[in-house]
Amino acid sequence: MKFDIQWFDRVNSTNELMKDHISSGKKIDNRTIFATHEQVSGHGRLKRKWISSSHTNLCFSIYIESKKSLNHIPSLTMAGALGICDFLKSKNIKAKVKWPNDVIVNQKKICGILSEHINSNLIEKSGLILGIGLNVNMNLHESKQIDQPATSMFLEKNIIFSLEKTLYEISEYLEFWILKWEFHEFRSLKKEWIDQTGPIGREIEVHDGELVINGKFKGYGEYGELLIERNSKIKSIWAGEIPL
Ligand code: BTN
Repeated sequence: MKFDIQWFDRVNSTNELMKDHISSGKKIDNRTIFATHEQVSGHGRLKRKWISSSHTNLCFSIYIESKKSLNHIPSLTMAGALGICDFLKSKNIKAKVKWPNDVIVNQKKICGILSEHINSNLIEKSGLILGIGLNVNMNLHESKQIDQPATSMFLEKNIIFSLEKTLYEISEYLEFWILKWEFHEFRSLKKEWIDQTGPIGREIEVHDGELVINGKFKGYGEYGELLIERNSKIKSIWAGEIPL
């Protein structure tokens, strides 16, 4: 499974570009990657902006042809996060995944992932888009523009990385985890995910917009949803955020 990496100079959002490309009926092969040197309206979950200076970081989207149901989107995001994490570890950066879609280093965000389903009646293809923003060469000044603690490969290692080479290397790690996900979805990621995200049984707090849910962490459901015990009842949480 090899990726066809296509670079663009400047786009609004690689996820949107890919969605438009597919829904207008243009040809796209499984595992195509759209990457850009500049993304001017990148977005994340919960309609948040994804800020990235031009020619500095990686912003890319992968098309994955799949007939899997919507329930499997969260675990695709998790597979992507594990791939990025393994890549960062190969550069001696101590990265960890964080539910549901982040990779962090020393309690600072280095990567965010947004997976989306393509549902166009115009096309016969059915698939998913795995959109990844990885802070590669972001400097300290740029990191201060972000509304939460953030870091980059440069800030961790004091080395400037080639974006093209970095994306090529990452694709090898993503391939490993995406293949696992294709065969056994969340089941194939569960052990590694739990090993990285800490013990079951601890108290956690999940924020979902205005809503804050506290309870005892009971692990993950069949699709990677978070299970929390509150008042002796188990609650499944599909979206939200655990504070850094
Ligand atoms: C998040 O942290 O909420 C997810 C951020 C995802 C950002 C990436 S950058 C490439 C792709 N294009 C987008 O507009 N978003 C994703």
